Amino acid sequence: MAEKVLVTGAAGQLGRDMVLLLENKGHEVLACDRQEMDITDLDQCGTVIDDFKPAIVIHCAAHTAVDAAETDIDAAYAINAVGSRNVALAAEKAGAKLIYISTDYVFNGQSDRPYHEFDNTDPQSIYGKSKRAGEVMVQSLSTKYFIVRTSWVYGKYGNNFVKTMLKLGQEKPLLQVVHDQTGSPTYTADLAAFLLELMVTEKYGIYHASNTETCTWYEFTEAIFAEAKDILGLEFSAKLEPCTTEQFPRPAPRPRNSVMEHLSIRTNGLIDLRPWREGLRAFLVDLKE
Ligand SMILES: NC(=O)c1ccc[n+]([C@@H]2O[C@H](COP(=O)([O-])OP(=O)(O)OC[C@H]3O[C@@H](n4cnc5c(N)ncnc54)[C@H](OP(=O)(O)O)[C@@H]3O)[C@@H](O)[C@H]2O)c1
Repeated sequence: MAEKVLVTGAAGQLGRDMVLLLENKGHEVLACDRQEMDITDLDQCGTVIDDFKPAIVIHCAAHTAVDAAETDIDAAYAINAVGSRNVALAAEKAGAKLIYISTDYVFNGQSDRPYHEFDNTDPQSIYGKSKRAGEVMVQSLSTKYFIVRTSWVYGKYGNNFVKTMLKLGQEKPLLQVVHDQTGSPTYTADLAAFLLELMVTEKYGIYHASNTETCTWYEFTEAIFAEAKDILGLEFSAKLEPCTTEQFPRPAPRPRNSVMEHLSIRTNGLIDLRPWREGLRAFLVDLKE
């Protein structure tokens, strides 16, 4: 059945793939970029959502500049917390289901095991704290919500780690990449396919959804080079070297352990995402086409 779906952040990495997939599947989509609906504007959110009357709102808009958020604190909270409140209020008034995309950064990353959906959150960065504040807004204002935490996102649209490594790998003689942070890289198209499956259910709650299996950023880069050589025929000049987080201090702290267990996908009988390396291969094939 075709649904009326409104997507926020429609010009972003995930938003663009989400809109394309929804349109391909015959849903009626309102793709909202910042011009169409600035989520920090409560009245505009109310008007746009009330006019379209979606059955589902997929809220992908966010302040995602993790390091910049450490100094531009107000902007991070205005978009991730207040903006999410505005979207949640308007979606609730329209009787719509709400999917809020969240992040592994809501955890402190110090655990020795994967985080599941009901572990205590303890964000360490402004980005993580503001995204967690958005989760709280959604949980308190929405009756029909899905909070979907994902990690290490990359896709065809926008800048991301994979594209940066493909470029630097061909330009630099040496690349040092962090080998003491572990997580699950996630291809936007795979996450969008999961959201498509989830949105038509009434299995509300918190979900961890990333491509499965884990690696460090260094191991991810090794795989990017190997697969890009195979699929795109690229040659890389850069010698890869593992390094530590301490060697590359950044304004925002990164979780050492970003690995998330998919307890809710399992317990709700949903189909899990494929392993990250298969997602990476699919991304490179899509990039080629
Ligand atoms: N990227 C990751 O590694 C990662 C990891 C875990 C979770 N996530 C979450 O996944 C979701 C999608 O991430 P992404 O990588 O697709 O992010 P993205 O490419 O940065 O896209 C976010 C979009 O939100 C828009 N936006 C920002 N402020 C807005 C406002 N006030 N009103 C309307 N739109 C606004 C941005 O527009 P402008 O370009 O105009 O600013 C951008 O198009 C986010 O919720 C993010 O927190 C991402």
